[in-house]
Amino acid sequence: MRPRSPGGRAAATVAVLLSLALAAPAAARGPGGGGTHEYEVTGPRTAAQRTAVAATGASVDSIHGDRIVITAGAEQADRVRALGHRVVRLPGPPDRSGGRQPKPHTFPAQDAKYHTYAEAMAEIDAGIAAHPSLMSKQVIGRSHEGRDIIAVKVTSGVNPGAAKPEVLFTHHQHAREHLTVEMALYLLKEFGKGYGTDSRVTKMLDNRVVWIVPDVNPDGGEFDIATGSYRNWRKNRQPNSGSSNVGTDLNRNWNYKWACCGGSSGSTGSETYRGRAAESAPEVKVVADFVRTRKIDGKQRIKAAIDFHTYSELVMWPFGWTYDDTAPGLTQDDHDAFAKVGKSMAASNGYTPEQSSDLYITDGTIDDWLWGDQKIFAYTFEMYPSSAAQGGFYPPASVIDRETARNRDAVLQLLENADCMYRSIGKEQQYCSTAE
Ligand code: ARG
Ligand code: ZN
Repeated sequence: MRPRSPGGRAAATVAVLLSLALAAPAAARGPGGGGTHEYEVTGPRTAAQRTAVAATGASVDSIHGDRIVITAGAEQADRVRALGHRVVRLPGPPDRSGGRQPKPHTFPAQDAKYHTYAEAMAEIDAGIAAHPSLMSKQVIGRSHEGRDIIAVKVTSGVNPGAAKPEVLFTHHQHAREHLTVEMALYLLKEFGKGYGTDSRVTKMLDNRVVWIVPDVNPDGGEFDIATGSYRNWRKNRQPNSGSSNVGTDLNRNWNYKWACCGGSSGSTGSETYRGRAAESAPEVKVVADFVRTRKIDGKQRIKAAIDFHTYSELVMWPFGWTYDDTAPGLTQDDHDAFAKVGKSMAASNGYTPEQSSDLYITDGTIDDWLWGDQKIFAYTFEMYPSSAAQGGFYPPASVIDRETARNRDAVLQLLENADCMYRSIGKEQQYCSTAE
């Protein structure tokens, strides 16, 4: 710690922060924890200014006007201060123990409704057992620590010979975003109970193939709850050679314009560490390989996708690597279809629709790869809540039902549009008229 002004207020603040850092529980500093914390930053108003904050290696977690919340190490927080912003450390993750002794590898008592990895897998297996002709499971690969990464296929036996357009839902790239696993479980439940009873669901499962990857980052998710209290973990749990810092930010590790544009970090200690190469994270490679297997006879069967995150209540579309609305590989019509369907989905769930770079520049994200490399209309949803004050990454379990059901209509809309996204802008003839 180097005080930036002799004596006085700044030194006192540094002393307070230092004592806070030393008092931080082992959990927050845990193996490879690096002692990161959330901070409120006041000052950055534009996407360029937020990109500069992110360039310190911090993750930008939410934005409200000129106030943003970041996760950062103390050194990164100093660098954000040096940009001229006011930086105030926020309290750590909430205590949801209800006064009970934390139980390792489970959610805190008051959040017991959230599913651990084992609980989620068990619930999925039970759902498949109850609907064997509608759902099936594939192990598409393993995480760094060896956990199964699965894809659940949901489609009816109707139209068996048809090459049904496919839609992909991915969940939980970021460890602390546990609500996204609940979103996957909700979708599976809705499809199971809606087939044959709900006409919209029935029509979609007769005419689409749905792929749900409910947990892209099981190691990170389990690490986040391993002490029985939350750790605010984001990355996976892959070690980095030559460093004690653990983890790659999976959503900066995808193989499209990887590391291109200052939208990720090359430092292992960063919350947005991009990995040593694109797809160096096994979890990313597993999902990317799976997506590539859906390219059959040179045609990608998956037409549309949503990658679920928390938090901020946003519907976002590519590209993240550039501020421009259009770019090589993203025409005006592509953009218009993305925006049209994105805004319509946002109208149904009350989220804010925007291009992802309206937040700040990112590179190596899944949506840029799915579109840029595979021409899949890929969205990123940031789920509930809208602010840190409402629980940030750790909203109480009481909101799970409401906040997952909130996306029902948006998901059905994407399924309904997936066969021809350009229909939304009146250009079905031009783009989708020839027989598939
Ligand atoms: N908050 C998420 C992240 O940091 C999403 C960033 C938005 N950009 C994007 N291309 N989806 O990974
Ligand atoms: Zn996320």
